[in-house]
Amino acid sequence: MKPFVPQSLPIKELDWEPLISLMGAANRSIAHYDGILHGVPNPAVLLSPLITQEAVLSSKIEGTQATLGDVLKFEAGETPEQESQRLDIQEIINYRRALRIAEKAIESCPFNLNLLLELHSVLLDSVRGRDKGRGQLRRVQNWIGAPGTPMEQADFVPPVPTLVEEAMGQWEKFYHADQPDPLVQLAIIHAQFEIIHPFLDGNGRLGRMLIPLFLWEKGLLSRPTFYLSAYLEDHRDEYVERLRALGAGTDGWNRWIAFFLLAITKQAKENADKAHSIIELYEAMKTRIIDLTHSQHAVPLLDQIFERPLFQSTDLKLSGDHSLSRQGLTNLLRVLRENGILKVVRMARGRRPQALAFAELINLCEGKQVF
Ligand SMILES: Nc1ncnc2c1ncn2[C@@H]1O[C@H](COP(=O)(O)OP(=O)(O)O)[C@@H](O)[C@H]1O
Ligand SMILES: [Mg+2]
Repeated sequence: MKPFVPQSLPIKELDWEPLISLMGAANRSIAHYDGILHGVPNPAVLLSPLITQEAVLSSKIEGTQATLGDVLKFEAGETPEQESQRLDIQEIINYRRALRIAEKAIESCPFNLNLLLELHSVLLDSVRGRDKGRGQLRRVQNWIGAPGTPMEQADFVPPVPTLVEEAMGQWEKFYHADQPDPLVQLAIIHAQFEIIHPFLDGNGRLGRMLIPLFLWEKGLLSRPTFYLSAYLEDHRDEYVERLRALGAGTDGWNRWIAFFLLAITKQAKENADKAHSIIELYEAMKTRIIDLTHSQHAVPLLDQIFERPLFQSTDLKLSGDHSLSRQGLTNLLRVLRENGILKVVRMARGRRPQALAFAELINLCEGKQVF
C-alpha cells in the first residue's frame, strides 16, 4: 500500500441531496441538547464527571482498559496493582487536562495549530507516547495496522511526512471556513485529520477532542461539553470501516458524513438524557440532604460531591463564610453514609482516610451499575 494523497479541502464531490434530512436531524438534536445545557446550574461542577467519562471512552477506543470508577479511585488515593493500569489512568487524566486547557485557550483565541501541538504534548505527557514526538508534527512515515504489521500490509498508510505541514495548514483554514453546514464541516474535519494522521500517536483521541471544541467555537453549543465517544466506541468497527473507505478512494465521503451525522443525532439524545438526569439527581439530593441535615453547609458539600463523586474525606474543602469545622464535616458525611447516599469504598486505615463514593452519580455517568 502506498502513502495516501489527501484530497484538498473543501471536498468537491459531495452529494448533498441524501444528506439533507440527516443534517436536519443532527442540527435539531444538538440544539435540543444545548437547550438542556442552558438549564444546568453550575455546569462546570455538575458536568465534571461527564468530561472524565468522555476521556475514558475516547481512550477506550484506542485500547485503554480503565473505567471512570478506576480513574476516580486513583484520584482518591488508590494505586492500581499493575503499571499498565496506572498508565491507562494517566492517559485518561491527560486527556481531561488537555480538554480543559483547550477550553481555556479558546476563550481568548480561536483554535489554531499551535494549540493543537500543545494539546498533543499534554495528552502524551509522561505516558506511553513520550518517545513519540510529543507536541510535534511527524517527520516520518507512519501506518495503521495491527501492532507489528509491515507497511505493505497496513490497513491505511497516511500521507508522506513532507506533505503533513501543508495539509495541516489547509485543514486549519477549512476549520475556520464558512461552510453550508457546520456539522458536515465537522465530519470532514475529523476524518481529514485522521487521514493526515499528523502525529505518531494520539491522532484518534485528538481528533475526537476537537468535536466539542469545534461545536462550541462555531456557536452550536454554549459550552464545549458534547461527547461523541460513547457512540463511536459502541460502533467502533463501523467507525473505522467508514474512515478506511475514505482512504481507499471510493465515494466514501458521503457514507462517512452520513455515519457521523447519525452519530451526532443519537449521541446528542443520549447526552441530553444524561445531563437531564444529572440535574434531576442534583435537585432531588439537594432537598433530601437539607431535610436530613438542616445544615447551611449541605449544598456547598453536595456541589463538591458532584464535582468529585469519589473522594477521601480529607479532599473536601472547608472554606466558606461560616466555616465548617472538621468535626462538623465528619458529622455531615456520617449522616450521608447512614442514609445510603455515600458508600464506603475504602475504610480508614492508619493515616489513610476513608474513601467515599456517591454511587448513584457514578452509575449514572457510566450508564450501568458499578457501585
Ligand atoms: N483506515 C483508517 N483511515 C483513517 N483513519 C483511521 C483508520 N483506522 C483508524 N483510524 C483513526 O486512527 C485512530 C488511531 O490513531 P492513533 O494515532 O493510534 O490514535 P490514538 O493514539 O489516540 O490511539 C482511530 O481512533 C481512528 O480515528
Ligand atoms: Mg494509539
